[in-house]
Amino acid sequence: MGAYTDFHRRSIADRESFWTDEARRIHWHRPFSQVLDYSKPPFAKWFVGGQTNLCHNAIDRHLAARGDQPALVYISTETNTEKTYTYRELHTEVNRCAAVIAAQGVVRGDRVLLYMPMIPEAAIAMLACARLGAVHSVVFGGFAAASCASRIDDAKPKLLITADAGLRGGKAIHYKPLVDEAMRLAKHPPKNVLIVNRGIDKDFKPVPGRDLDYAEETRKHADAQVPVTWLESSDPSYILYTSGTTGKPKGVQRDTGGYAVALASSMEHIYCGKPGETMFTTSDVGWVVGHSYIVYGPLIQGMTTIFYEGLPIRPDAGIWWKIVADHKVSVMFSSPTAVRVLKKQDPAYMTKYDLSSLKHLFLAGEPLDEPTHRWIHDALGKPVIDHYWQTETGWPILSLAPGIEPAKVKYGSPGYPVYGYDLKLLRETDATEAGPDEKGVLTIAPPLPPGCMTTVWGDDERFVSTYFSDFPGKLLYSTFDWGVRDKDGYTFILGRTDDVINVAGHRIGTREIEEAVQAHSNIAEVAVVGVADPVKGQMPLAFAVVKDAKKVEAEADRAQQEKEVLAAVDRQLGAIARPKRVYFVTLLPKTRSGKLLRRSIQALAEGRDPGDLTTIEDPTALAQIRAALGVK
Ligand code: PRX
Repeated sequence: MGAYTDFHRRSIADRESFWTDEARRIHWHRPFSQVLDYSKPPFAKWFVGGQTNLCHNAIDRHLAARGDQPALVYISTETNTEKTYTYRELHTEVNRCAAVIAAQGVVRGDRVLLYMPMIPEAAIAMLACARLGAVHSVVFGGFAAASCASRIDDAKPKLLITADAGLRGGKAIHYKPLVDEAMRLAKHPPKNVLIVNRGIDKDFKPVPGRDLDYAEETRKHADAQVPVTWLESSDPSYILYTSGTTGKPKGVQRDTGGYAVALASSMEHIYCGKPGETMFTTSDVGWVVGHSYIVYGPLIQGMTTIFYEGLPIRPDAGIWWKIVADHKVSVMFSSPTAVRVLKKQDPAYMTKYDLSSLKHLFLAGEPLDEPTHRWIHDALGKPVIDHYWQTETGWPILSLAPGIEPAKVKYGSPGYPVYGYDLKLLRETDATEAGPDEKGVLTIAPPLPPGCMTTVWGDDERFVSTYFSDFPGKLLYSTFDWGVRDKDGYTFILGRTDDVINVAGHRIGTREIEEAVQAHSNIAEVAVVGVADPVKGQMPLAFAVVKDAKKVEAEADRAQQEKEVLAAVDRQLGAIARPKRVYFVTLLPKTRSGKLLRRSIQALAEGRDPGDLTTIEDPTALAQIRAALGVK
């Protein structure tokens, strides 16, 4: 990996000239005068003095050369629709939407909360916010009303945009009642809700004076031309909430210029997507992957992006490969869970379609186990590149970079440090560098490269105390992931160092689930751990102590309590956080100082040794966990 090693070295040793070159990939309304302002560590300001705009870079800039090229192809196997927007058409729609948003009084710096299914209006609204310099905060549609409400209260949006309903596997998910509930729960609800009425919810009733109909409003602004608002490079582009160890998700704040440059650069060097080609990212716009590689990345690069609403196996397990063949997809991005789902299907689907256009398949979001990596690599006959990153970074931390050097894949590894990242694998005890094959905590020596989070929304102090305080006395960004590096420089991820779990690529804090379980009136205390799952990677398991033990004495009562607790989690967080099981115990294993022994519980649930138990307060607590799980 000689060429890449040099490339990476230059990105760290000669940071300013490296990023000056990369910054040429985007349009600057006003050129920057300073590449990096790092006068207030760990806060980094990239491309100081420069003015740009994400929407301009994603759409307007391409109009002259590729106005008639498809920009976004919406494919829904839920409604059996396919709709193509050329760059010109997308420009028109974004202008209309921007005019509607502006008419609600939204100006530069105001927040707009999006709670949307996978419909093109989600991308259009994101781009429209970017055009106005408004800060969007997309909340994944699978989150419950209470989660949506807490994000409303943190971001204090001026407007909420939603739809009547989403569809999943043919089943309607009604957003409107969830939004009504979230608006009721929020302390700072926005005045208006703009609703895309898809006609799915037959009982749809707008709230007079509050709800606005998207079709009607955009009709009023059919010919709108909304000028781009030029932003300072470090002005926020969006907030995206993500889970950590506390019950309160953090608003990851992203800048404008650094993000645009990082995306444009990664499209070239990592994803190898060329203007005019097609990218298919199977995520949801509610996640960081959707922000970076369904919406902004491919459009900034002048590609066609596939915007897919549906499941990977409906109408059959060949649907994604059919899309690749029909649209000559050259770059595809998906998740290990999706691949594990496909692995269980008839392998004939993998060879049914002409996949000759496809250069690489990228996977991220959760650990990719070696057998699955090998299987999909062989089944596709294409390089499958596992790459590792976080909501916080916005683009890859570890990856191969086939745009710089042909990819030499090692199964089970997301490759080597991405340029721009000064990555260190540190011993937990003294922050010294781990040797080859020795486990360490993956950390980034700041400044974080362009594109990464710039702070926690509204809470600079939390940015520092959360991410830069893992190694006392040293200002280092912790990823909270364990890793190990082999002698060839390939890193392998060994799981989180904190209490965050990963369910089918969805990142959830066990604290959040515990708080949701405790919302049930009969729960006194609970421990939630993530246990290995063959398809979803991990699943939450809950061990709860009840207040009234009589309610869990008989088997039928226990089943009823479990059902109620699961319903409480659905209500607070959404079904994605629902534990696989809730076990009732009278005592939880804790240290003498009262710390929950989550790792020991997790080990028992995964059939492993519970480890050092010398600090346990009452050993019978573990015996109860064993009994509940039916293990010896
Ligand atoms: O634990 C790591 C895991 O997912 C976390 C980040 O999740 P999220 O913020 O949702 O961002 C996903 C962006 C792709 C990480 O801290 N993770 C992500 N990718 C990988 C991974 N674990 C192992 N291998 C990966 N490729």
